[in-house]
Amino acid sequence: MSETPPIRAHVTGWGRYVPSHVLTNTDLEKMVDTNDEWIVSRTGIRERRVAAANETTASMAAVASLRAIRAAGISPDEIDLILLATLTPDYWMPSTAALVKEAIGNTRAAAMDVAAACSGFVYGFATAQAWITSGLAKHVLVIGAELLTRFLDYTDRSTCILFGDGAGAAVLSASTEPGGAMGIELTTEPQGAYMIWLPAGGAKSPPSSETIARGEHYIRMEGKETYRFATRTLASTALESVRKSGLEPDDISLFIPHQANIRIIDAVAKGLNLPMDRMFTNVDRYGNTSAASVPIAMAEAVNEGRVKVGDRITIVAFGAGFTSGAVTIQWTADPARGADADTAIRAEDVHVRLPVDWDSVDPIPQALAELMARPGAVNPPLDDVVPGEPEPAPFLPAADRPALTPAAS
Ligand code: ACO
Repeated sequence: MSETPPIRAHVTGWGRYVPSHVLTNTDLEKMVDTNDEWIVSRTGIRERRVAAANETTASMAAVASLRAIRAAGISPDEIDLILLATLTPDYWMPSTAALVKEAIGNTRAAAMDVAAACSGFVYGFATAQAWITSGLAKHVLVIGAELLTRFLDYTDRSTCILFGDGAGAAVLSASTEPGGAMGIELTTEPQGAYMIWLPAGGAKSPPSSETIARGEHYIRMEGKETYRFATRTLASTALESVRKSGLEPDDISLFIPHQANIRIIDAVAKGLNLPMDRMFTNVDRYGNTSAASVPIAMAEAVNEGRVKVGDRITIVAFGAGFTSGAVTIQWTADPARGADADTAIRAEDVHVRLPVDWDSVDPIPQALAELMARPGAVNPPLDDVVPGEPEPAPFLPAADRPALTPAAS
């Protein structure tokens, strides 16, 4: 009697979206006491993207998702489960995943957010793999999307230079063909809980004028402790995933690590005893996009021809929590499908529904207003979806804007 082959989770679709506004190190030199040389030598970051006023985590996620679904060659309604990893949801509730479900035109999927900071996409990917291999779902959409530039203190040079906005997505599909996702390794070390955190806005410290005056609505980070955790954990997490797949690091043609800092990626390569050309990097162009970083990097790696059918790749991330996660994948999809999806899905055609009885507030941080008002910059209305909404206030240079409460240093 022949045995039924096991169900495997294959990556069948991938997509990315980044906003068009570019914030360079030279721009940051005008805001805080920093310089291009320091940022490039300590982090590898040259520029990052900033979402426009009418963009949200959900809108960026929806564009990346539709590209991933198109690359997978399925219709949005074939998705059974949507997992959206983010630390910058549009709202505390509903989930951003629910908004994305509607925006992509899906009527049947269960949708929920995943909170594991920068490791969120890998955590979501591993969860999708479990749903598929257990037979619970046929197609799962996993998204990493972040709008971090609205949660940064632009007087704190140790954090505001690091982060950027964007979204990436993957479709995982059930198949009995060989290949697909293999060994999973996930870790959580709560002793690092307050090393990267956003103090106010939650139940422990609800938002108030006091929390805003103290700047507790911004991301805080102990850079050195985080750096130590990342360099200690990233290589060991990747190695565990590779070994659980019955492989050794040298069998992996490309590692796709979380893009936080080029020095951390360099340490991973050294830890695995591999040359840097086995590490995919794009941190120079986008900075740290948290949960979006791995899926953006994966989509770019595939679209740039760095991944071929049959290759084994490992996605690996670390983040607040402290969390870390890795999954090793044998690639089976035609890489050419990604570039086609990128051109076929245009961001301006994708809309996230807004509440009807609510006026949007200009969400652009005062420190970024000048950037958004640059000649040639595209600044569509805040919300062009709800009829009867008042026109948003025009973008003003920082000096002409009403002062915001200064953040505590
Ligand atoms: N420009 C110029 N100087 C700076 C800047 C800046 N932007 N930021 C800090 N400095 C100064 C410091 O004040 C310090 O000066 P001092 O010696 O006079 O006190 C000096 O530079 C050295 O600062 P360090 O913090 O020691 O710099 P370090 O080499 O550790 O680099 C960095 C800092 C880049 C933040 C690094 O620690 C790092 O990458 N940490 C990991 C961060 C990370 O990956 N976070 C993402 C987590 S993922 C998530 O879940 C959100």
